[in-house]
Amino acid sequence: MIKPKTILVTGGAGFIGSNWLNLMVPRHQDIQFVNMDKLTYAGNPLSLEAVEPSENYRFVKGDICSRKAIQDVWNEYQPDTVVHFAAESHVDRSISGPTDFIETNVMGTLNLLEVFRASKQITRFHHISTDEVFGALGDEGLFTEETRYDPSSPYSASKAASDHVVRAYNRTYGLPITVTNCSNNYGPMQFPEKLVPLMILNAMEGKPLPVYGSGRNVRDWLYVDDHCEAIWKVLVQGDDGATYNVGGNAEKTNLDVVHAICRIVGEETEREPNEIIGQITYVKDRPGHDFRYAIDATKIRTHLGWCPVESFESGMRKTVRWYIDNKKWVDSVRSGEYRNWIEQNYVKR
Ligand code: NAD
Ligand code: TYD
Repeated sequence: MIKPKTILVTGGAGFIGSNWLNLMVPRHQDIQFVNMDKLTYAGNPLSLEAVEPSENYRFVKGDICSRKAIQDVWNEYQPDTVVHFAAESHVDRSISGPTDFIETNVMGTLNLLEVFRASKQITRFHHISTDEVFGALGDEGLFTEETRYDPSSPYSASKAASDHVVRAYNRTYGLPITVTNCSNNYGPMQFPEKLVPLMILNAMEGKPLPVYGSGRNVRDWLYVDDHCEAIWKVLVQGDDGATYNVGGNAEKTNLDVVHAICRIVGEETEREPNEIIGQITYVKDRPGHDFRYAIDATKIRTHLGWCPVESFESGMRKTVRWYIDNKKWVDSVRSGEYRNWIEQNYVKR
């Protein structure tokens, strides 16, 4: 069991990182959390309003592609633990422009590892990764920790590369690392380019619901708080050098997901769900679109006692309610207003 004193969190203004900080900062007041985030389009300080005033929380606007910026944070805060969320994370963007994905996900991870390799006080470097590194499944089978890597998109290739480099630093230099490979997350504060928030907001606003190809591709959905709890468990209890797969045991076709969203949005806004289903439009498929992802989470369940708390139904209802109830966040993201606010309020390192 490790006992972190100062945790450097990278990418904590993004979807999963901000949910993780919102859970962990109030819960662990004896731990200092330092959030280093570049605030790309996907980073939003509004997602961190609740933790911003906390004594045990600091924000640094910084780019992991700059080794100096990481070194400066290291010199100032002397973290003993790293939780590495920062990444370019959207598959479609990686198809239209792969370069940022290689720079941030591969070179940015390398920069972090290089700075922390020199440190003797690092007790844990936890790397957050995805099940997409394993490539596509057919109708049968599950991804285990032993499944061979076979990434399809520039995003998944960049995450696969970073996973290998992180493990190499453990084997070669003895850096104490852990890795989690998780399935698709959904929940509050996800940027509305990903399937779930895009469909929720478009459903609410009467806009088209663009389903790629046949809509029969399958993803294994996990509510974000369940992922956050899994990360904490692996961080403090995971074996040195180990990898854990994390998944919700909630396989759905994309069409199932969109139908569920239409139903829940209908119920929560007193509209006829079939009218919302009528907004579905089938659009051109994504190139190299992986057919199916599904996780075997036996290892994290049996070794660390983790299992998801939310069902797909309960998690999706919470998510829909969050987007209905958080108009300020939604409007500022939809209008781009949050970008102006960042320009005025944050100094880049
Ligand atoms: P996100 O895109 O919402 O957030 C990424 C964050 O990283 C943003 O705050 C962004 O500003 C920051 N960032 C990007 N480039 C940076 C740089 N060069 N320097 C510093 N900060 C930078 O992503 P997310 O969905 O929260 O994903 C977080 C991590 O979890 C990623 O590593 C992703 O690969 C992994 N993951 C995501 C999912 C999912 O379903 N979203 C599933 C499994 C794993
Ligand atoms: P996404 O949320 O981008 O996650 P990932 O590609 O990392 O799994 O997409 C989830 C699934 O939904 C994927 O099969 C692509 C599909 N999709 C659509 O059908 N329409 C959309 O507008 C988006 C963004 C995704």
